[in-house]
Amino acid sequence: MRAKHGDDSAQFPTSLDLRWRRYAPSMRRSLERLYGGRADEVGQRLHDLVATALDERPADLRALDEERLLRPDWLQLPEMLGYVAYTERFAGDFAGVGDRLDYLTGLGVKYLHLMPFLQPREGANDGGYAVQDYRAVRPDLGTVDDLEDLTAKLRAEGISLVMDLVVNHVAKEHEWARRARAGEARYRDYFLMFDDRTLPDLYEQHLPEVFPDFAPGNFTFDEQADAWVWTTFNDYQWDLNWANPDVLCEFVDLMCWLANKGVEVFRLDAIAFTWKRMGTNCQNQPEVHDLTHVLRACLRIAAPAVAFKAEAIVAPEDLLAYLGVGEHHGQVSDMAYHNMFMVQLWNALATRDVRMTEQALRSVPPKPTSTTWGTYARCHDDIGWAISDRDAAAVGADGYLHRKYLSDFYSGESEGSFARGLVFQANPATGDRRISGSLASLAGLEVALESGDESEIELAIRRISLLHAAIAGFGGVPLLYMGDELGLLNDDDYGRDPAHAMDNRWAHRPFMDWALAERVGTEPDLPAARINRAIRHIVDVRCQLPHLHASTPSEVVTSPDARVLVLERRHPMGVMVEVYNFSPDVVPLAHEVLTERFGGRAREVLSGYEYNLSPNTIDVHPYQAAWFIAAQ
Ligand code: GLC
Repeated sequence: MRAKHGDDSAQFPTSLDLRWRRYAPSMRRSLERLYGGRADEVGQRLHDLVATALDERPADLRALDEERLLRPDWLQLPEMLGYVAYTERFAGDFAGVGDRLDYLTGLGVKYLHLMPFLQPREGANDGGYAVQDYRAVRPDLGTVDDLEDLTAKLRAEGISLVMDLVVNHVAKEHEWARRARAGEARYRDYFLMFDDRTLPDLYEQHLPEVFPDFAPGNFTFDEQADAWVWTTFNDYQWDLNWANPDVLCEFVDLMCWLANKGVEVFRLDAIAFTWKRMGTNCQNQPEVHDLTHVLRACLRIAAPAVAFKAEAIVAPEDLLAYLGVGEHHGQVSDMAYHNMFMVQLWNALATRDVRMTEQALRSVPPKPTSTTWGTYARCHDDIGWAISDRDAAAVGADGYLHRKYLSDFYSGESEGSFARGLVFQANPATGDRRISGSLASLAGLEVALESGDESEIELAIRRISLLHAAIAGFGGVPLLYMGDELGLLNDDDYGRDPAHAMDNRWAHRPFMDWALAERVGTEPDLPAARINRAIRHIVDVRCQLPHLHASTPSEVVTSPDARVLVLERRHPMGVMVEVYNFSPDVVPLAHEVLTERFGGRAREVLSGYEYNLSPNTIDVHPYQAAWFIAAQ
């Protein structure tokens, strides 16, 4: 509701006025950098858009706004647990997800990311990341009303709905693209179109290829438009021209509309690519952060309950800017994926040596304390071996050879590998071979089950538990990918769907195995049941630990043994030390690591055991995760 004019409103400014005053100055600086002399005009348009959106915001969402304004750290709390699923693969449709709420609350889920569900183009659509209509949902999943019903149901259970917002590109069948193709000047300016190859060739000199296998090059000739169109990803995904403020206004309007349907977190897909600059790789340009700053400020005014997650799979030195450095500190995305931590977990598992992991984690500058990480061991995409030459060299390894070693290991090609992965997008020019495969298959469960060797099965389950403990203990929102809570293996049938046959990322995007989920309750010895118990236990323990609030960073302690990663969290409620054994060996841990911090006694919360520390060493079991806090 807008405030009435008159004395009251002079005394009590409206929420709109207060919030606008709060965000307008910094927004204005970003708009000037982005659009120069048009900043005022664009600012006015944004004001009108957010004013309308706030007017239209439903009462229950306004209540959530108030709640979040009182608890701005909601995404940082230790009880946050994310679950990521394809709606149709998890539960058929939106209504089906609503019927599975007990399952989600039983796991402790507080944050549900349903993979792309907006209306994509027909046929190949990059897993839904080629959106044809941002104001419609996939008809097989339901209607926009069904989506709204689902968000309300989730909200009632304390679960936030997270959605993908593809900001870098739209499907070439999107109305904007169709009108651009038909020659409408207004819409041609929504895209990056070139009459000939002169500029594309110059840009190409510095651009990497995202999908060298199935979409080489970054530009596609469109017959009807008679132009080369910028297409970073697939040829049917047209990059947007964010240098045009109309695109910004469209997205603010769209995001407010979706927020008013109950979406609580926007995952800003491929955000790193949104601003192009000749002579660069056209990623991580400073304007990307000005754009995010403006988008976030608008949403903070219209729907302050909403948070942003940056999907920026970039080098650590570029990553921090997505959570805000300099004047954007804490003013851009609230959350970012910790891709490097994920890569390092697999690296440490393969090598049984955490020295490179220590080095890499130390190279990440501190993040703003108001932000959080999305921590994960596996996601819906492939794993690219984001290990820098510098970090490799620091521990005496060669970056190129080491990345090759990891591809060989996780594709299962190398001798002694426990992994069963698939090579994705081998690039002969760079030597890159990214890896697909489910968490359990990469961690050795598939090979172990085939061998039937119980001790191998046990080791694989321990590796899986270790990975989950590490993402739960790092500080951030641990993201559980559907099926990992049951140790689902690679889906070898993914290629039966012709739309997926070319893209082996579908091997780790299986259908939910509800029959197995049922059996977990009655057959405690099943590997799935053992994995499930371990994960639930980790989540339960985590919720009780204020030390895991994401405002406190996990810091690397140089480990007395290269097989064991040691992290420390210096939280006002007390210090916490985490120990992760990445080897199948029993590792005696020198007691100083703990006595220096805890004196004579410490409590290990995952086992519930209280240790007498000095003068003993502590045996860390194969693949054990141990979380120590002060004894009570
Ligand atoms: C993100 C998604 C990926 C998709 C790409 C293009 O990286 O995670 O699945 O292919 O964006 O939209």
